[in-house]
Amino acid sequence: PPNLQKMVEDLGLERVNCRAKGASSGFKVAILGAAGGIGQPLAMLMKMNPLVSLLHLYDVVNAHGVTADISHMDTSAVVRGFLGQQQLEDALIGMDLVIIPAGVPRKPGMTRDDLFNINAGIVKTLCEAIAKCCPKAIVNIISNPVNSTVPIAAEVFKKAGVFDPKRVLGVTMLDVVRANTFVAEIMGLDPREVDVPVVGGHAGVTILPLLSQVKPSCSFTQKEIDYLTDRIQNGGTEVVEAKAGAGSATLSMAYAAVKFADACLQALRGDAAVVHCAYVASEVTELPFFASKVRLGRNGVEEIYPLGPLNEYERAGLEKAKKELAGSIQKGVSFVKK
Ligand code: NAI
Repeated sequence: PPNLQKMVEDLGLERVNCRAKGASSGFKVAILGAAGGIGQPLAMLMKMNPLVSLLHLYDVVNAHGVTADISHMDTSAVVRGFLGQQQLEDALIGMDLVIIPAGVPRKPGMTRDDLFNINAGIVKTLCEAIAKCCPKAIVNIISNPVNSTVPIAAEVFKKAGVFDPKRVLGVTMLDVVRANTFVAEIMGLDPREVDVPVVGGHAGVTILPLLSQVKPSCSFTQKEIDYLTDRIQNGGTEVVEAKAGAGSATLSMAYAAVKFADACLQALRGDAAVVHCAYVASEVTELPFFASKVRLGRNGVEEIYPLGPLNEYERAGLEKAKKELAGSIQKGVSFVKK
């Protein structure tokens, strides 16, 4: 931060300088869109993560304000702010993990696809800079429509000759977080002990909870299945409507983003058995991208698990999901190719 630089100059303290360079061990993480509704609580939670040594906060507005604020937290990560396109490359150089919540959120009545026209260009620009400055970084994409922005990122990286399908991950963790919560609610369980696989994508019918595979094993009535599937698929809309024009999920999303980013960092550190759902380049179905359980490791996605046995209800849901996903993927790919 500028004030830290001034302190170094004023006091000439070598030890201050040392911290300013982010010299401690740990991972270097950048958040692009860090001053937004998701970005701010996400930045705060990442500053609390002991695996992070250096936290770069980039936005086109208010990046320095958020940075000054968060930099006063007495946790070990060093925080630096980067404002505007001319500082984007500096924000990215040397990063191990880049998290992207930049872009506009939904208002009531909008689908995630309605955000495409604005967010597609934002994600494209940010990924072009990632390809140039930190092509080996793991990239977590939050900006909607995730079903299209991940294919956009992949195309940008392909164009730059640096695409590694293991390193580009669409964040669908909020769907899993919601599914765990809603299932726990009706079964009277502690949500921390519930694990619901949610596959497909991140919009409406493409969000496919596999309730037949819930752990601990639960048996639901058809009424419960209909209720849960509908609530999980429309959880985002529930928040958009409750906020009535003031945005979409930000706090639960920041929580989910940190849960996922933390898993990526644990995997980078070499932890075994780090398994979560994510939307990635995949051969699990005939589509080029699909969300399913993946095992994370030092290189990103190390293994993609098959969907497992589906019941008839889930097979019908899968067909619907694939139909919509195919169009969203194609839209993203064409956007970069055109
Ligand atoms: P917001 O509008 O509060 O914040 C977005 C931030 O991005 C703003 O600070 C804005 O200045 C910044 N920004 C805009 N253009 C930029 C650029 N070119 N470079 C860097 N930063 C830029 O929106 P919010 O609520 O934080 O949502 C962000 C995105 O996350 C939306 O697209 C939303 O749909 C998506 N989202 C995704 C979820 C998921 O589960 N994957 C869940 C909830 C939201």
